[in-house]
Amino acid sequence: MKKILDRLSEIVGEAFAAAGYDAAYGRVTVSNRPDLCEFQCNGAMAGAKAFHKAPMAIASDVVKKLTETLDGVWREAAAVPPGFINLKLREDFLAEYTGKMDSDEKLGCPCPASPRTILVDYGGPNVAKPLHIGHLRSAIIGESIKRICRFMGNRVIGDVHLGDWGLQMGQIMQELKERQPDLPYFDPEYTGEYPKEAPFTIGELEEIYPAASAKSKEDETFDRLAHDMTLRYQEGDRGLAALGRRIVAVSLPDLKKNYQNLNVDFDVWYSESDARRYIPVTVERMKADGLAYESQGALVVDVAKEGDTKEVPPCILVKSDGATLYSTTDLATLVWRMEEFAPDAVIYLADKRQEMHFTQVFRCSRLAGLVGENVDLTYIGFGTMNGKDGKPFKTRSGGVMRLEYLIREIEEAVCRRITENENRSMTEEEAKQTASIIGLAALKYGDLSNQAAKDYVFDIERFTSFEGNTGPYILYTIVRIKSILEKYEKTQETAENAAIRPAASGSEKQLQLCLAQFGEAVDGAYQELAPHKICQYVYELSNAFNQFYHETKILAEPDKTKRQGYIRLITLTKKVLETGIDLLGFAAPQRM
Ligand code: ARG
Repeated sequence: MKKILDRLSEIVGEAFAAAGYDAAYGRVTVSNRPDLCEFQCNGAMAGAKAFHKAPMAIASDVVKKLTETLDGVWREAAAVPPGFINLKLREDFLAEYTGKMDSDEKLGCPCPASPRTILVDYGGPNVAKPLHIGHLRSAIIGESIKRICRFMGNRVIGDVHLGDWGLQMGQIMQELKERQPDLPYFDPEYTGEYPKEAPFTIGELEEIYPAASAKSKEDETFDRLAHDMTLRYQEGDRGLAALGRRIVAVSLPDLKKNYQNLNVDFDVWYSESDARRYIPVTVERMKADGLAYESQGALVVDVAKEGDTKEVPPCILVKSDGATLYSTTDLATLVWRMEEFAPDAVIYLADKRQEMHFTQVFRCSRLAGLVGENVDLTYIGFGTMNGKDGKPFKTRSGGVMRLEYLIREIEEAVCRRITENENRSMTEEEAKQTASIIGLAALKYGDLSNQAAKDYVFDIERFTSFEGNTGPYILYTIVRIKSILEKYEKTQETAENAAIRPAASGSEKQLQLCLAQFGEAVDGAYQELAPHKICQYVYELSNAFNQFYHETKILAEPDKTKRQGYIRLITLTKKVLETGIDLLGFAAPQRM
């Protein structure tokens, strides 16, 4: 099924051709003057030069064709100075379109003809460190992008890319060695099997890391030992590799639980250290091409380009002490991903402060031909989530906010709102469950409705409000439809074989027009990898529905055909809204 604008462009294009112009000028867009028309075409102005004709003359010719030959489509088609073509659809045409959407699996959003394999690298937590809100955005935005790409028919792989390679590993290991020197992991003579059980719990691990990291800053000797430890771990020391696996194993259940609470799930749970076996080949390829050279004992690749507006330092592959870095594992991971998944595109989600890192890694991999020329490498750098003071969000006591606490705070705020409601029929248990569903929507929508690159202010009051451009408002709209449909069901009538009817009022037409643009919205979000476009769309659709709802007696409509038509219309609205929020990564409760 064609998207509405494509269908209309085709029709207007035919009119251009019939009037002796080029059909390509018939591109139709949504009107930017909704007070005047629903759609518009600016092709007459664009074509004036090519046809040596006044835009108005072209527009009039086309409008004549539009009204003569294709009068089943337009309620109004007018040429307006200096050469716009203003368009309004016929209600029956629109009802037919939305009716088709209703039976279309993708709700009128066609998938590209050749699906691609897309790997989305998001989440990116570091083992042994609790998930904090810095990782929240990566998870939320990445999950939505993954779902959008998948909805468009692509084969999509979500990879969490756990951080378990850097200095933090050596710090933890060194601290552990000082606390429990007798562990076999530290004994170079040890040849037996290492214990299956980790020598620490997640609680201890979370305490060990900050202690070790603080020590590294204060104590030079400790810091040096931690660096040595990191190096030996990276070099594949048998005991330390086993210990590294224990650290990952202890961290994983906790991470998985956290992501599950966020409704975020990964297809593969690979980590940086899993790429270690690809490091030697990656480095060799760089060296063989003469790209990598030694500089002050380190192995580096120049990636600066002519025309760079800011300095792009060389990409360091191996430090002078022999340790490899974040860039090294990212390059090795790419080599491995090409081998395992052969992706057409790799999309990375990380804090926008990592922009330089990704510039270096992408340039390096292009120079060395680690990925084919047709493979897209995209980095989506997101801004910071700030508190009301405009600074990165902190706990009340000023510490880094842990994700769990943040979620709890949101849920409590929502729970207060629900129980304050006059609607007290909800049991405490149901209120809690509902609050967690709404809380997640508040959190995710609050984040996704901003352009990813921008910083935003985390405002619990605003995010959890049931009114305005918020997640709970969208859910509220869906719940409202659910409740009408529930009541309708009780009447024993069914609208199953009914059809959406030509709109009889302005608000009904507006609702249908908005529904018809679902495909445009999703496709736009996909092309630009921009979930905020879906937020915009579901917000507009919710507004259109609520306007219609306030002006229309749905269940009390005496004419049966009309009543059934309404039911079909709002059922489609519910489907489209639910699909929209599923692409954003949350769902609606039964009531609220
Ligand atoms: N672990 C990193 C961090 O905490 C994010 C990883 C992003 N992905 C990547 N392939 N570099 O900042």
